[in-house]
Amino acid sequence: MYCPDEIERILISEDEIKAKVAEMGRVLTEEYKDKNPLFICVLKGSVVFFADLMREMHCPLEINFLKASSYGSSTVSAGTVKLDVGAGIEFEGRHVVIVEDILDTARTLYSLKNDLITRNPASLKIVTLLDKPSRRVVKGFTADYTGFAIDDLFVVGYGLDYDERFRNLPYVGTLKPEVYS
Ligand code: IMP
Repeated sequence: MYCPDEIERILISEDEIKAKVAEMGRVLTEEYKDKNPLFICVLKGSVVFFADLMREMHCPLEINFLKASSYGSSTVSAGTVKLDVGAGIEFEGRHVVIVEDILDTARTLYSLKNDLITRNPASLKIVTLLDKPSRRVVKGFTADYTGFAIDDLFVVGYGLDYDERFRNLPYVGTLKPEVYS
């Protein structure tokens, strides 16, 4: 298995992720099977989770992509969120499901949710693979569906990066502190 030197340890294995994504797909299929939902991938970090989750959805759905960024090459959120809410995506009357890689301070999803609500979707729910509840800045903000709650650790892999690296690892791992200190 490919495990770069910079990885300290594997926090969530490929098998654990696979089982969890299948379980989330089962629950979401049940909820959305008659709703032709619009699944939104929040680029770039969600792309791997999104691709796996949509293939665990056994019902009609449509997909689209948005870009949101708050981190540069640091492991601490910049505190500002840049949103590029897709021009040309029609949200009105749709059952929208935002698919995110990780919920941290929640600034990104708070901004995104507030923006999308003004576009009159029939419903709007948030799915996240990972959640770091202890890092929340937007108090009380939660996802509707969460894969794994984790401690306050900076993690990479399965789509998540540090300075654009490690997105291709099939597991979620922690970085050795010397990589970012
Ligand atoms: P929030 O706005 O602080 O909730 O940040 C959400 C975004 O920050 C995520 O979509 C990730 O791109 C990034 N992020 C937060 N925590 C981590 C982490 O541990 N590793 C990699 N990226 C992270």
